[in-house]
Amino acid sequence: MAGMATLAAGALPRAALAATPNLAGTAGSRGLAFGSAFDREIFDDPAAAALLTAQCRIGAIENSLKFDWLRPAGPEADFTVADRLIEFGLKAGLRLRGTALIWNDWLPDWLKWTGVRERRAIMDRHIDEVLTHYAGRVASWDVVNEPFFPMHGREGGYRGGYWFDAMGPDYIATAFRRAAAADPAAELVLNEAFCEHDDETGLAIRPLLYDCVKRLKGDGVPIHAVGLQGHLKPLLPHDYGAFADWVAAVSELGVTVKITELDVDDRGLPADIAARDRIVAETLSAFLGPVLKVRSVNEVIAWQLSDRYSWYRTLPDYPPGQKARSHLFDDAMEPKPATFAVETAFGQSAAR
Ligand code: G3I
Repeated sequence: MAGMATLAAGALPRAALAATPNLAGTAGSRGLAFGSAFDREIFDDPAAAALLTAQCRIGAIENSLKFDWLRPAGPEADFTVADRLIEFGLKAGLRLRGTALIWNDWLPDWLKWTGVRERRAIMDRHIDEVLTHYAGRVASWDVVNEPFFPMHGREGGYRGGYWFDAMGPDYIATAFRRAAAADPAAELVLNEAFCEHDDETGLAIRPLLYDCVKRLKGDGVPIHAVGLQGHLKPLLPHDYGAFADWVAAVSELGVTVKITELDVDDRGLPADIAARDRIVAETLSAFLGPVLKVRSVNEVIAWQLSDRYSWYRTLPDYPPGQKARSHLFDDAMEPKPATFAVETAFGQSAAR
């Protein structure tokens, strides 16, 4: 079992570092699709908008399609910002993903005052309104995000929250069936976190997720793909080869698999930028190598392209003066070793 990714000095072809990355093109040459999360930063940052357009075929809306962003103060949805993002993405030629349609986390406070029956009606209405509104524009949805979190102590290891606590595990099948009825053309995805590592959480969630997908497929629930987020943590115990074997077993249940939120948690890594960048690159290579051998893995989506808009920078636990360098491009939207590590992994992957 690997520990922290080994620091193979000069791990990348020297020539690659001088080249201009072409992540979408290299992925596409192997039948893969590459993309990234983005959100309202693209309205005011032309460099971010240009990088997304140049390097991606897929765009995932990071936050603005989430329940708490669409309905922050009450049951009425405001699609204004999300509509602008969708319009940008379609003009940029991106295949668009919506995420966290139904998620037991990050829900607005007003939901807590709703009763059980009302919450089921709110969930049905949310799915109907959002998928109808974006039918033909958003091609793929994380219908349910992060169904499991054993630390919540719920029976079956499910993530607790307003939807689960009102409806039990059936909220998952209900959401997928409702989504299929609202937009029959949409790709419907079950998206999960924490599966990539051999820590207590990863070892607990992998069998739970596998059994859940097997049950859903057996019950004829319209689930087309599984999303594995891919927030890599090089300091955690991991065996990405064994993880890839598990991914292959999941796909044999009759789903494709996407890496939906790829980045590298660099908290605890050396402060030295060159060393940290090299570990980030090596971690991405160590992960994508075995995972991309699984032909049913058809998409890799980064969770933001640039460090400038890293969600890790909203977390409090970096040493003073140290900023996240978790992504493929730096604050100036320039490539890093991580960029070419990912492009090399795409180029060396099995053709789909
Ligand atoms: O920018 C506003 C700020 O103006 C306001 O004062 C503040 C008040 O809460 O909110 C700020 O927005 C926050 C936003 O991050 C930007 O920092 C939102 O509250 C906060 O909800 C949002 O967190 C997002 C988080 O999901 C919760 O939705 C992160 O951006 C986003 O990267 C993160 O992404 C999740 C995936 O959806 C699921 N997998 C894990 C991943 C990382 O947590």
